[in-house]
This record gives sequence, structure tokens and C-alpha cells, in this order.
Amino acid sequence: MDRLAGTRAVITGAASGIGEATSRLFVAEGATVVLADVDDARGERIAGELGDRARFVRVDVAEEGAIEAAIGTSVDEFGGLDCLFNNAGNPGSLGRVEEIDMAEFDRTVAVHLRGVFLGIRAAARVLRPQGRGSIINTSSVAGLGANYAGHDYSASKAAIAHLTRTTANELGEDGVRVNAICPGGIATSIFGRAAGLDAERAQGTIDTMAAVLADIAPIRRAGQPLDIAECALWLASDASSFVNGQAIAVDGGLITGPTYRTSRARSEGAVGLLSASGES
Ligand SMILES: NC(=O)c1ccc[n+]([C@@H]2O[C@H](COP(=O)([O-])OP(=O)(O)OC[C@H]3O[C@@H](n4cnc5c(N)ncnc54)[C@H](O)[C@@H]3O)[C@@H](O)[C@H]2O)c1
Repeated sequence: MDRLAGTRAVITGAASGIGEATSRLFVAEGATVVLADVDDARGERIAGELGDRARFVRVDVAEEGAIEAAIGTSVDEFGGLDCLFNNAGNPGSLGRVEEIDMAEFDRTVAVHLRGVFLGIRAAARVLRPQGRGSIINTSSVAGLGANYAGHDYSASKAAIAHLTRTTANELGEDGVRVNAICPGGIATSIFGRAAGLDAERAQGTIDTMAAVLADIAPIRRAGQPLDIAECALWLASDASSFVNGQAIAVDGGLITGPTYRTSRARSEGAVGLLSASGES
């Protein structure tokens, strides 16, 4: 299929999970993709599998000036840039407030908030002069509500959602759209990384995580990377040309609140207790 024929994209965090699935989908739909990641081994291998319309460039999104190398590769080898997907992410801290290590806190903010801003800034330098383009940022349900992830990660994701609005407001006037995707529970290696596993061993935890995530939202299955990739494809394409500044949850309804099935059981239990205490 050719839903993205002629689109030139750079995707960060492309060596795994959501970024990998999006890279594969974009290339299958006619785009060229520069895969950017700190994981050289997986990034090179996936780009190799994708063939002539893919390249891998090592990028640490937290480093000023790093994403420019990937954007430069898209311009030099594929003739330009139409879309940047700022998707790289680390799991962040999991401890209680008093336990959080400030170096880890700073790294989380640097990878997420700083990394996304550096990406938007670098892309704007190319996209604004040409008067068109789509920037997509990965936020999270953790940026929309509390208790989906740790403090530094959640606050960074909320900041990404708002940075999406502020930059969309400015860049939209010059034809450049900025939107965010807020994934719910997606079965990827990020949870294994949170448990301290290295990249390859974390890949081995995905099926276990899919089972854990299968019952947390109204839609009774784990999210898959392809669910997010399809939303990114739509945001990259002209089909979404009037969508700007949005943080779109792709979460099976997770953010709507506690699932009906669990709250119904709780309220039936409460009704039972109340009628029993009324009878005694
Ligand atoms: N999986 C979920 O349930 C979920 C939910 C909400 C949001 N997200 C977000 O989705 C994005 C993708 O995560 P995923 O679930 O695919 O996880 P993943 O661990 O499978 O992939 C993350 C990728 O980002 C790369 N990365 C990490 N730090 C980087 C850096 N500084 N520079 C460049 N690359 C870096 C990793 O090497 C890895 O390839 C992240 O931003 C994550 O926070 C995931």
C-alpha cells in the first residue's frame, strides 16, 4: 500500500517497540525512514531489513545537536524531511518521592522533555521554510493522569503534551503541524528495561507484559506497537491535515477511568455490605 508514498520521516527510538513498528509500517506504506536510536546493534539490523528506503543513525536525543545528524541524513540521502516522530523514551524512576535519585530524574527529563524540544527545534529549521510538515511526539496516558508511571516520567510526559500545544500554536501558522500520541499500556520492552534488564533481555519480557496489560482498560487486550504506529501514520499523512496541537490517547479507553467490570464488582460488594448492615 502507499498511504505515505513520498513521505520522508525521521523516527527516534526506532530500534525497538513503538518506533520499530512505526518504521516498519512507514516503509511498507511508501515512506523513507531514518531510524534514530542509541541502540546501534538493533537499529542497524532493522534498517538493514527495511532495505534501500531506510537508514540508521546513532542519536542520543538528549544531546544538543544529535538529532541534526538524522535529519541531515534524510535531507542528503532522501531529498528532504516531511515528518519527525519524537518517540525515544526511557522508563524513568519508579521509587517513592523520598527515594528518587536526582541523576535519574534529570536523565528522564532530558530524554523526554529536552529530547522532544531539541527534535522540534531541529525539525522546525527545515519544515518552517518549506511551509509544511508534521511533527509527532510520544507523550503517554501518564502525562494525562496520575499513577500510570513514576513522577519524573509522568511529569515529563505531561510537559510533552503541553509543549505540543505551544509549538503547534506557533508553527501551525507556517503550515507545520505538531501533535502528540498518548499510548496506554503497549506491550514493548520498556517494562523489562524498567526492571533493570538490558535491551535484548527486555525484549524477552514482551509476552509476559502483554498478559499483564490485557485487563487494565475497557478494551480487553494489551496495546500493540502497531496500534500507535497506525495513529502516527495518520498524523504524518495529509488525512490529518486539520489536526494540530492535540494529545491523542491510543489506550483502549484506559484514561476514561476504572474499568466498568472492576467498579461494578466493587459497587455490588458495597451494596451487599450496606444491606447486610441495614438488616443487623
Ligand atoms: N509501552 C508503553 O506502554 C508506553 C506507554 C506510554 C508511552 N510510551 C512511550 O513510547 C515511547 C517508545 O517506547 P516503547 O514502549 O516502544 O519502548 P522500547 O523500550 O521498546 O523502545 C524505546 C526505544 O528508545 C530508545 N532510547 C532510549 N533512550 C534514548 C535516547 N536518549 N536517545 C535515543 N533513543 C533512545 C531505546 O534504545 C529503545 O530502542 C517512549 O517515549 C515511551 O515513554 C510507551
